[in-house]
Amino acid sequence: MGKIKVLNKSELLTNHSKVVNVNNTEIAVFNVEGEYFAINDRCSHAEASLSEGEVYDCKVECPLHGAEFDLKTGEALTPPASKAVVCYPISTDEESIYIELDENA
Ligand code: FES
Repeated sequence: MGKIKVLNKSELLTNHSKVVNVNNTEIAVFNVEGEYFAINDRCSHAEASLSEGEVYDCKVECPLHGAEFDLKTGEALTPPASKAVVCYPISTDEESIYIELDENA
């Protein structure tokens, strides 16, 4: 699949997040103080949207039961989640935000 444009930078303000749908996968894209991150939007514990979680220190807290995930790696940092969520490489240019999907995604 390679690199896919998911948003214009103007669509994702600092300290906001947005869900984009790529190949039927919901991906949460975060702008944290001008740094961008992308992880699978679905919490690995149950049905919650991580884009709705609170973000601090490059972590997002699941809005449902409070598990924390590392935005840089997708790693589950605190219970009740124990499995990581997929983390996508992200890049930008002047105007756009891109994520990389591997060929099998
Ligand atoms: S659904 Fe995210 S911690 Fe339970």
